[in-house]
Amino acid sequence: MMSTLISWGSTERTNCITTKEREDMEVGMSSQNTLHMNSGVGDKSYAHNSFFQKKAIIKAKPILEESITRLYYNILPKCLKVADLGCSSGPNTLEVIYNIINIVYNTSSNLNLSSPDFQFYLNDLFESDFNTIFKSLPQFYKTLEGKKGNKIGPCFINATPGTFYKRLFPTSSMHFFHCSYSLHWLSQSPEELTIDGGGTVERDGIYLTSTSPIGMQKAYLGQFQRNLKAFLKSRSEELVTGGEMVLTFIGRQNNTSEIRATWNLLGLALNEMLLEYHTKIS
Ligand SMILES: C[S@@+](CC[C@H](N)C(=O)[O-])C[C@H]1O[C@@H](n2cnc3c(N)ncnc32)[C@H](O)[C@@H]1O
Repeated sequence: MMSTLISWGSTERTNCITTKEREDMEVGMSSQNTLHMNSGVGDKSYAHNSFFQKKAIIKAKPILEESITRLYYNILPKCLKVADLGCSSGPNTLEVIYNIINIVYNTSSNLNLSSPDFQFYLNDLFESDFNTIFKSLPQFYKTLEGKKGNKIGPCFINATPGTFYKRLFPTSSMHFFHCSYSLHWLSQSPEELTIDGGGTVERDGIYLTSTSPIGMQKAYLGQFQRNLKAFLKSRSEELVTGGEMVLTFIGRQNNTSEIRATWNLLGLALNEMLLEYHTKIS
């Protein structure tokens, strides 16, 4: 099994505490059954606000090409089975699929082979807006036919809802996993920090900084390590021999990144507002 791990960008969402995670800390629950991106195609939808994530897909394209080409040469599958994990709903989802089809089309043409069939599995959490993707499929199939005609094998697109921190597919059934900008979402707040876990809930920040308590930093790192291990274990059981993955993460380049400063300012502003609210009602 080959895996390409790309550390990209300047922030590390792994260490960021969202409002949802903070709420979860207070009730000591996992966020996997409720978390989702903004649905639909309106102004505030994920579909309309995912350009930053698209940049990561564009940047990782050469690595995707290298990985898919190697996989295709090694396995020459009759039907290429691919999953996009944490696909969300928006133009990025179908862009990834199109890129993969294009790479396989070019590689099989170079080898004078006919294109394989394609089976894509779109994975995200249960509450994700799969319907918006399904509604865009007729146009996608039309575009594909317009651009590739009958030169590519049939393409089947399915949804696989569920958490990627557990098994999603049968043993040794998948050729390729793609996961972009998703693995920084933790499955839950670290138990050490929940009230049930006996920890102290920190209320003075929304993002880990050098001044955050070391216990909190360690707790988030530990949670990320547990999650990544569970992810890799499941995928290693699902991949066929010679299968590949491309995982794209966001990460912090250094401690003074601009985005981190923005989170700090946002945290300060939120704390001020909270203080003002408490002053008013007391
Ligand atoms: C920032 S979006 C990235 C979406 C898409 N890959 C892209 O590049 O535009 C992260 C996605 O990961 C999904 N996600 C988070 N945790 C997940 C989990 N445990 N299992 C499956 N999907 C998850 C979220 O619901 C969200 O749709």
